[in-house]
Amino acid sequence: MDEQAKKTALRHITYGLYVIGTKIGEDDVNAFTGNWVTQVSFQPPLVAIGVKKGTTSCDGILESRVFSVNVLESGQKDLAFKFFKPLKRVGNKFEDVEFYTSTTGSPILRDALSWFECRVTDVVDRGDHTLIVGEVVDAGVHRDGKPLTLAETGLFYGG
Ligand SMILES: Cc1cc2nc3c(=O)[nH]c(=O)nc-3n(C[C@H](O)[C@H](O)[C@H](O)COP(=O)(O)O)c2cc1C
Repeated sequence: MDEQAKKTALRHITYGLYVIGTKIGEDDVNAFTGNWVTQVSFQPPLVAIGVKKGTTSCDGILESRVFSVNVLESGQKDLAFKFFKPLKRVGNKFEDVEFYTSTTGSPILRDALSWFECRVTDVVDRGDHTLIVGEVVDAGVHRDGKPLTLAETGLFYGG
């Protein structure tokens, strides 16, 4: 295989950019910014995410079996950047970011455009990320708007 072609073609996959949250233990939460998110079924409504192994978020989702996906709005690059760093390095990432919880206890950002939350149905442990499938059990829309895309940020995560 042509390694460079593989990298370029995989980077041509178009993505959004989301803050993916989970519950940690009894009364804590964490979240990370990620783009590997896609719907994979209408009925039941299923969503798949790719989560880096060994991160607080990956371990947290596997333990709590729940996660939220916060859809950011075009222009909310700064909000996305608050959740790129590992919790283990920076401590609490929420600082001044307001959130609430609904059905699963996963964090829902007040400033997100919309959100949905899932209960984990399937886990595929292969490669350097874990493929986690969840059934959407609750959702909400905070306002009308255009979702943030990975392309808008000029960043890449893929290849
Ligand atoms: C542009 C970009 C996209 C990312 N997308 C993902 C992703 O889809 N899945 C993932 O596990 N990590 C992704 N990351 C890396 C996480 O944001 C990073 O590992 C984060 O520190 C994990 O947080 P935690 O250790 O607090 O759980 C991405 C990073 C960047 C810069």
